[in-house]
Amino acid sequence: MPHPADLARRAAALDDEHAATDLRDRFLLPDGIVYLDGNSLGALPATVPETLAGAVRDQWGRDLVHSWNTHGWWDAPTRVGDAVGRIVGAAPGQVVVGDSTTVRLHQTLHAAVALRPDAGVVVTDPGSFPTDLYVVAGVAAQVGWRVEHSGPDAVPALLDDLARRGERVGAVVLSHVDYRTGRLWDLPSLTRATHAAGAVSVWDLCHSAGAVPVDLDLHGVDLAVGCTYKYLNGGPGSPAYGYVAARHQERFVNVLPGWNGHAEPFAMAGAYEGAPGIARARIGTPPMLSLLALEAALHAFDGVDVRDVRRRSSSLTRFLRDCLEALVPGVEVVSPLDDAERGSQVAVRHPDAYGVVQALAARGVVTDFRTPDVVRLGVAAPYLTHGDMLAAAGAFADVLAAGDHLDPAYGRRSVVT
Ligand SMILES: Cc1ncc(COP(=O)(O)O)c(C=O)c1O
Repeated sequence: MPHPADLARRAAALDDEHAATDLRDRFLLPDGIVYLDGNSLGALPATVPETLAGAVRDQWGRDLVHSWNTHGWWDAPTRVGDAVGRIVGAAPGQVVVGDSTTVRLHQTLHAAVALRPDAGVVVTDPGSFPTDLYVVAGVAAQVGWRVEHSGPDAVPALLDDLARRGERVGAVVLSHVDYRTGRLWDLPSLTRATHAAGAVSVWDLCHSAGAVPVDLDLHGVDLAVGCTYKYLNGGPGSPAYGYVAARHQERFVNVLPGWNGHAEPFAMAGAYEGAPGIARARIGTPPMLSLLALEAALHAFDGVDVRDVRRRSSSLTRFLRDCLEALVPGVEVVSPLDDAERGSQVAVRHPDAYGVVQALAARGVVTDFRTPDVVRLGVAAPYLTHGDMLAAAGAFADVLAAGDHLDPAYGRRSVVT
């Protein structure tokens, strides 16, 4: 087992090696904490407070309603969409921002149904984030499709089996990274298998955008959604995005037609006619201040290649695993060992996971709990160091040694954990 001093030397050497991708000074984080919850709420980018204050003061406060034109508010959903597109590998004109992931997924799945009107089955992972399960079940019930559940690794075999039975699959809805375990699924090969079955691929990118290269265009993904408040650091409740590959836009049916997506929104026409291009996926008036905060936040990625973020993140999560295994023997790490299969978090199973998360927070290490027994250590690479990984594992060991996690005060669970 490595001695803590060896781990400290390794942390310092790795931080030197990865110095070029240390973007900590682009973020405002309180001193004295190790923030391992950027997979829930990303940290505050340094560009945001002044931009947001200016938007409130000079745009809303001074220029008032003219700001829709003079400050580019009207075009913000597609302009910010293009900025998100740069991070997820989508050429301009294919991403729109606004509304929540839940709303976007509902809209997107209906669009998939419209692209495959003769199908009758949707395939999804039963381990998906609840909102995805609810939306898939809800839309399937609305359109009369059957839901088939399968872990992503078994999806290709399931698709073959369904094809043999003459069942037509319309869509495969999967998360790129599992929210609990941090397992990164093989988007290119699962998209190919989906297409081979004649179905439309729908990806949830909540836990990968900004942390892992996605390359939507390169891999021929059809439709995708994602939130912006995790690794994209857009802020609490920042609007989600939807991706519609250019080749599908003409046939994109918007199940939530609203005036913002109309071809001539200010004609105030009585009948809906979708705008050309990605703008037809717009719905209603977007949350403008959040959208402008997100736009400012995305500047944290200026000049940054997501591949470099990924390299840094793989090194950090690998080192965090090593530190946990060395300092907290017996801890069960559930995130994959193989770098290629691990997203940007290290999940640990512990019977008192809730107490561990609270006790870690008391020692300045912010993680989160996912029921029933998972401690998630989210690693947003731009603002974390290998030294932070060692500090977090050390705090984990100290908590267990002192029994802090068994404090009866941690018996009651709060809403956001
Ligand atoms: C994979 C995944 N999908 C969807 C959501 C949430 O959707 P919404 O932005 O509508 O709350 C989350 C939230 O953490 C998530 O992890």
